[in-house]
Amino acid sequence: MCGIVGYVGCKEAQPILVNCLKRLEYRGYDSCGLAFLGDGLQVYKDVVRIGELEKILPPNGGRVGIGHTRWATHGRPSKVNAHPHVDCRGEIAVVHNGIISNFLALRERLVSEGHHFFSETDTEVLPHLIEKYYRGNLEEAVRRALQDVEGSYAVAVIHRNSGELIAARHESPLLIGLGDGEKFLASDAPALVDYSDRVVYLEDGDLVVMHGEGLKISNQGREVVRKEHHLEWTAKNVGKAGYEHFMLKEIHEQPGVIEEMVGESVSTIEPSVNLEVFIDRTVDGILLLACGTSYYAAMVGQQVLEEIARLPVRVELASEFSYSRTVVGRTLAIAISQSGETADTNRALKKARDLGCRTMAITNVRDSTVTRIAEQSFYTKAGPEIGVAATKSFTAQLIAFYLIALSLAEVDAGTFRHMTQELRLLPSKVQRVLDSEKVIAGHGRRLSGYESVFYVGRGISYPMALEGALKIKEIAYIHAEGYAAGELKHGPFALLREKFPVVALTLRDDTYEAMLSNIKEIKARESPVLALAEEGDQEIAKYVDYVLPLPQTDRLFAPVVISVALQLLAYFAARSRGCPIDTPRNLAKSVTVE
Ligand code: M6R
Repeated sequence: MCGIVGYVGCKEAQPILVNCLKRLEYRGYDSCGLAFLGDGLQVYKDVVRIGELEKILPPNGGRVGIGHTRWATHGRPSKVNAHPHVDCRGEIAVVHNGIISNFLALRERLVSEGHHFFSETDTEVLPHLIEKYYRGNLEEAVRRALQDVEGSYAVAVIHRNSGELIAARHESPLLIGLGDGEKFLASDAPALVDYSDRVVYLEDGDLVVMHGEGLKISNQGREVVRKEHHLEWTAKNVGKAGYEHFMLKEIHEQPGVIEEMVGESVSTIEPSVNLEVFIDRTVDGILLLACGTSYYAAMVGQQVLEEIARLPVRVELASEFSYSRTVVGRTLAIAISQSGETADTNRALKKARDLGCRTMAITNVRDSTVTRIAEQSFYTKAGPEIGVAATKSFTAQLIAFYLIALSLAEVDAGTFRHMTQELRLLPSKVQRVLDSEKVIAGHGRRLSGYESVFYVGRGISYPMALEGALKIKEIAYIHAEGYAAGELKHGPFALLREKFPVVALTLRDDTYEAMLSNIKEIKARESPVLALAEEGDQEIAKYVDYVLPLPQTDRLFAPVVISVALQLLAYFAARSRGCPIDTPRNLAKSVTVE
């Protein structure tokens, strides 16, 4: 949830770390801070964005430093709670991601031993523990301190008397960028794209000593060698490419993402789908585990897998699966997580594994934590997604489900051919939705004037209603709820009135007639209705206030087209309201705490 960066080398650390932190701000952004080894240890932090902190940083010649951008867990966003945290003497500085679960007990003990604490954070125990064990060897002091710690962490530590940077990980990602005479540290790859494309991913239990020239990694006291990887993400694909917001850029990248994923797996010669993962279709059922937008992708995936692959599929909120849920029979558990770092999802997959399930991950991030839990991973090809709202990573998850279902298809040859054809047509249909951006912007502006809105759909559109509501809530701060359209009259109807609009997802499938009835009932309560309907649907305009036409698409594949329209709707509503679209308040890109 927070971002960590570090530098050791021959250059001035400050501008490098500021730049790396700017790249990571989407991980959490309620406060930030930096520490350098220059003339002693210097620490700067505040409840500001990194661009603001940069303006007040004095020149600093230090060639070793660490930095942090925070998403508050223990203690509100404040200067004192911001990282780096320091020991009593102000000689040791620490930045940390994760949660130290036994921090209260450690803190009490340290206080009784004479240490003084200033913040409400769990992290502050770390510099004090390191101070306690420091006898002139920072590596040893960090190793010893971490033995006392329970929970998860990625940490970076510097000491005023040492020119090295010590880092360690346990259940929180950390990677090292390699340069000539310099080394970089980051919790997430985008931080490094301006400096290095040669990276080493640390494993759980790794402790690393970094100098400009050298690198020593050890695990449980033994020196280990970790493989060097080439970083595929570049400065070009983590930039805004001229768009006003990352979210808008990422929405526009969707035709390309879909084309790449489909092109790589669907044969153009014979109708077949080939994947890098192997799925044993003799399992008794599939269990999908996910949170937030990924959960809505899983709800679509459930219908797609059941209909195309004819396998029983259960979907669970990962955050609920840990509580007294179990599995029956031989089950394949699939975790869906764009970041691969969502704590609830990872915990749920571990539980499924412990219950005897086979395991797989659908994720966008190579070497992310979920890929270490799962037996195999299906990588979506969305590329870096910087906007906090999931957009292209969501459509990539949908495409993953279509591809998996088609690789296991139990349908006749004609249907199979039709479905692969529909998949290939998706990029151009999504492009047509993007081309109608101006029209969608008008609807978004209108919605921005309301405080509440319902999204309704039936069948495969129901998860899209949930996703549409989440998106506008998340970035436009409009209270929104998604409902299965038939459920409105079981309570929520009480809220309907002129000032309470409804967005209705009306596909011309077997849900159409029932949707029309629901829309008439809604209109009878005077709520304005915007219908997202298929092009050529002449009927719908008679019953609703506004129609947003979408390209006709086979029912199972329609969620892709609908979701792009809903993303744009939320985006333009948020823009009209002047919201900080890429960095909505209180949120962070990946949720690494339960
Ligand atoms: O990285 P994940 O896919 O596991 O994230 C799950 C949710 O936190 C995420 O989808 C969240 O709901 C999105 N920011 C919504 O746009």
